[in-house]
Amino acid sequence: MKKGQEIEIKIEKMKYPNVGIGTFEGEQVRIKGALTGQTVKARISKKRSSKIEARPLEVIERSERESASFCEHFGSCGGCMLQTLDYEGQLAIKREMVKHLFEEAGLEIKIDKIIGSPEIFEYRNKMEYSFGDEFKDGPLTLGMHKKGHHHDVVNVPHCHLVDEDYRTLLNGILAYATEKKLIKYNKRSNEGFLRHLVVRKSKGTGEIMVALSATTGPQDAEGNSFDGSAFLKRIQELPLKGTLKSVLYVKNDGLGDVVAGDICILFGDDFITEKLYDLTFKITLYSFFQTNTHGAEILYQTAMNLIDDLSDKVCFDLFSGTGTIGQIMAQKASQVIGIEWVQDAVDAAKENAALNRLTNCKFICGDVFEKLQSVTEQPDVIVVDPPRNGMGEKTTTAIAGYNIPSIVYVSCNPSTLLEDLIVFRKLGYETDEITLVDMFPWTGGVECVTQLRKI
Ligand SMILES: C[S@@+](CC[C@H](N)C(=O)[O-])C[C@H]1O[C@@H](n2cnc3c(N)ncnc32)[C@H](O)[C@@H]1O
Repeated sequence: MKKGQEIEIKIEKMKYPNVGIGTFEGEQVRIKGALTGQTVKARISKKRSSKIEARPLEVIERSERESASFCEHFGSCGGCMLQTLDYEGQLAIKREMVKHLFEEAGLEIKIDKIIGSPEIFEYRNKMEYSFGDEFKDGPLTLGMHKKGHHHDVVNVPHCHLVDEDYRTLLNGILAYATEKKLIKYNKRSNEGFLRHLVVRKSKGTGEIMVALSATTGPQDAEGNSFDGSAFLKRIQELPLKGTLKSVLYVKNDGLGDVVAGDICILFGDDFITEKLYDLTFKITLYSFFQTNTHGAEILYQTAMNLIDDLSDKVCFDLFSGTGTIGQIMAQKASQVIGIEWVQDAVDAAKENAALNRLTNCKFICGDVFEKLQSVTEQPDVIVVDPPRNGMGEKTTTAIAGYNIPSIVYVSCNPSTLLEDLIVFRKLGYETDEITLVDMFPWTGGVECVTQLRKI
């Protein structure tokens, strides 16, 4: 086997994140995106003594679990990867992937339970779309990155992960931008106007936020500056089922391909309101909030089930976002301290606690590791819910340093959970079971919930 060689290979198993593994000439080959049971044609892209990787070229034979995808964007859109499996098949594959990841690392942890999402279609409460083109200098597109291509963007007018209002907004705003000849932003030259479109819609209240991320440069080739009123008018004319609550223009002149910059309110407020159980949460553009609201209720309940008794307890909600987990605990605990580094999210968490009449919560803005150094309270309960890159050794060690009997870890990335669990193990904390909660049907993502116990 050598680099560049084309091979035909049967996928025997999968490992998180979405890597199919098969055997060719007695050696294991890893192919991103290939599913267990498929036979694929692939080209060897990396050959080292420790690892052989190949890029998939074509599915020659589908697995027995697969059928035709119902989504017309499947294949071109990079958003979903498990479109050809029924929901049971998706859950089975996600469990298999995480199980293999931990097995390969030599950690014997029971990973048998996976809880499905209460909704499998139109479950998302947020989408971040990009403006661009499907091929170089092609017509303006607004949607998702093309599968396997970071620069190309495909329209997704019929995406099933979101409800009709998202599709109406997507199609309406693309039509408006095309008609007005608004220019897309060019990442290479850092010139142009249109960058991203963020849509948030609350499941609990139906409130909608629309945020246009664009530069402060001219909106078209004639040099006209952004006409916010015309943009807003077009949005207000769209036949939306929910309530338009917030229209924002994010002045984004930065070099990074992310939504960032000062916010100019074109209409309404700078937040929408979501409901979780009987709690109310204000969500601003930059605050993290779980993208599957009803799935989040199950996720948080799964985490809460691991804590025996909250009454009279001091609880730390680390990486607290808008303070969701903290406020669920605060209904029973004596005190909750949340730490989160996005100021917007901390402000929202404080307002949310007041809105929910919870007077026993304190939310601190800053890096979890740094802020823990100055927090004087001793926790009885710690729940951590870090971002995709995990906590890292320093923060994990600081948390283990509290020496409490158990810690609950909620993770959206099994790979970094694994790394942190290895650190925890060295520090005397063990886990014997991980429960998976699927918050992202049709895609390869999955949440993990586990309890670490001090040995
Ligand atoms: C997966 S989210 C969890 C949020 C919250 N627990 C929830 O369920 O809505 C992770 C959060 O950690 C925050 N974050 C990431 N790194 C951080 C750090 N080093 N210190 C403090 N917060 C951080 C992010 O801004 C994000 O809000």
